[in-house]
Parts: sequence; C-alpha cells; structure tokens
Amino acid sequence: MTDIARAAEELLQDGRRRLSAAPDLEAFQEARREVLGKKSPLAALHTRLGGLPPDERRQAGEAINTARTALQAEADQVQAGLEARHRAGRLAAERLDLTEILAMAPGPPLPWTGRGTGHVHLVTSTRDELEDTFVAMGFSVAEGPEAETDWYNFEALNMPPDHPARGMWDTLYLRLGQPGQVLLRTHTSPVQVRLMEAGDLPIYAVMPGRCYRRDTPDARHLPVFHQIEGLVVDRGITFGDMAGVIESFTTAFFGPGMHARLRPSYFPFTEPSAEFEVTCPICAGAGCRTCSGSGWIELGGCGMVDPNVFEAVGIDAEAYSGFAFGFGIDRLAQVRGALADMRALLDNDIRFLSQF
Ligand code: FA5
Repeated sequence: MTDIARAAEELLQDGRRRLSAAPDLEAFQEARREVLGKKSPLAALHTRLGGLPPDERRQAGEAINTARTALQAEADQVQAGLEARHRAGRLAAERLDLTEILAMAPGPPLPWTGRGTGHVHLVTSTRDELEDTFVAMGFSVAEGPEAETDWYNFEALNMPPDHPARGMWDTLYLRLGQPGQVLLRTHTSPVQVRLMEAGDLPIYAVMPGRCYRRDTPDARHLPVFHQIEGLVVDRGITFGDMAGVIESFTTAFFGPGMHARLRPSYFPFTEPSAEFEVTCPICAGAGCRTCSGSGWIELGGCGMVDPNVFEAVGIDAEAYSGFAFGFGIDRLAQVRGALADMRALLDNDIRFLSQF
C-alpha cells in the first residue's frame, strides 16, 4: 500500500468520526466542508497523485476515490438524520395547542388560571342535544361518508339519471372515478340507503352529518351545512307513527307547549311526503317576523319510505314499511339562537360564539 493510500484510509476513519459527532446541522455543515471540501486534506492528497509513477498513481487514486465515496455516503446519512431531528423539533415547537386558545376565550374565569373557559360550537351542541333526545327515544346513531356515489345520493333514492327531482339539490361533483359519479352528498338521506342495504332490521336510527350544496350563502343558507336524518323500518309502521315520533321529539327537544304539524309536500324517496313545521320558538306560536306571522317554522321533510327505495336496497316492501325525516341542524340552531343571519355561525367571531 502506498503512503497516499494509507493516508486516504486514515482520513476516511477520521472523517467518519467527525461527521457523525456533529451535534446539529450547523456543526455538520462545518464538518462536511472540512472533511470533503476543496481545502480538505483529502483534496490535498489528490493533488499529490501527479508526482507518482503510473502504477502507484492508479492504486492511490482508487484509495482516495473509495474514501471520498464512503465519506459522501456517510455525510448524506448523517445529514438526513439531523434534518429529520430538526424538523421534528420545529414541529413540536410550533404545534398549536388548541386548548390554550380555548382557554383564552372570554367566559367565566377559572379560579386557577384567571382565564375564561371555552365551549363547543353552537352547531355542535345542537347536534349533541339532538342525538341525546333521539337516543332517549330509543334511536341509535349512525354515520356515513360525505363523499358519496350517485347511487347512494340519488339513484337508490328513486332518482334515476335525468330525474327532474335531482334539480332540487345543486350538487358539487368531485373529479374522482367516472365523471358525474362521485359527489359531495347534498343531504344525509344516502345514509338511510347504507343502513337499509346492511339489512339489519328493524331500524330505528338517526344520522347526523355535514352536507354540501352549491347554494349561495345568505341569511338562511350555507354551502356547507348539517342535517340530521331519521329512519324507522319495521313491520306495520304507519304515517301515524311518524307524526307521533315527530310530535314527541318536538316537545322533548323544545319543551312543553311546542308542537309539530305536517303539510303535504314532495320528495322522490318518500310517498306520501310532508314538510314538518314546529311552533316558532321565538314567539311561542303567537306570530313574529322570524315565522312571517304564521307561528310556525319549517324544519325539514319527512314521509313514508317509497317502495321503490325498498326495492333498490332489497327489503321486502310487503313485509316492512317505514318512515324517514331529515332537517337542518344549522337551521335549528339559528331558530333556537334567534340568529338573524346563519352566516354568523361560520364567521368565527369570538364575541358572537361566546354567547352560546
Ligand atoms: C332534504 O334534504 C331531504 N333529504 C329531507 C328528507 C329526508 C325528506 C327524509 C324526506 C325524508 P331539503 O332539501 O328540504 O330536504 O332539506 C332539508 C333541510 O335541510 C331544510 O329544511 C333546511 O333546514 C336544511 N337545508 C337545506 N339546504 C340548506 C342550506 N343550504 N343551508 C342550511 N340548511 C339547509
């Protein structure tokens, strides 16, 4: 082995030690420059090759190249490790502690911090209360995906392609799968289909969740809003059962003196269908601006499950019958909170949110 080859071997060992000892990225860059840079001992060794006879030059050249390649690989590995550590450290330092932000919200001060407590959003608390009310009435709670297929959102609900009733919902389609086949659900009704398809009868379930429509935001509409769906499928279920459940729910949720009424309507997946209205909680039925003087506020739709829907999901419509209903949670929160404009729910103004 030539002197130069021996020196290259020593520089390799020494370089490895120095690179792996760097405690942070800054020290590593410095070590990398010293070990592999233009002014490094390895580069100096290279300049000495010219003075060697051809045979020794080849041997020494190979040793220098081997040392450089190994040091570069070592440097890349050490750098990757240090960068990962640096990233993890930065993430930990920048992590947003949401509980801290909530704790800064105005509200009754906590004795141990002197700061106010946070609370859930009005729509969330309304959803929670709705679930509690229905669970107390014997319903279970189910959920479904927000990105749906045309089958679940429309077709299984008795709306084949080109059915004019599809126009009732301004739909947002996703660029996924076949064009026009994947969409953001326009209502929670597709979860009915999923439950019925699963075939676990009887069904007494409510299905809350987020819905999407190409609706221009205004005082009573949001493009992203929430609904809660109800579905009952059992033997011998009648329209009277539906009216009774809606009335019991209204009194349980809004309190005594609050009632529900049904008015004929149309939905493709229920027959007969109805709009259901509840006593206006703002004027207790006396008539006010919010209810346009009628004393009633429209909450949502309902009806007996159409036999075509039973057929689509494989339930025997001769043996079973059922009813479904669906209404807007944000609309309900708006009515209960007497909010003039539903958009306030999304403004994230702490002065507004902390009132509920
Ligand atoms: C439906 O969506 C039917 N799926 C309801 C239904 C279920 C009928 C089961 C029969 C059986 P509709 O499009 O009317 O129906 O919406 C129901 C409720 O959702 C409305 O009354 C309203 O409270 C709420 N809603 C609808 N669009 C919006 C919106 N853009 N912003 C806020 N709430 C909305």
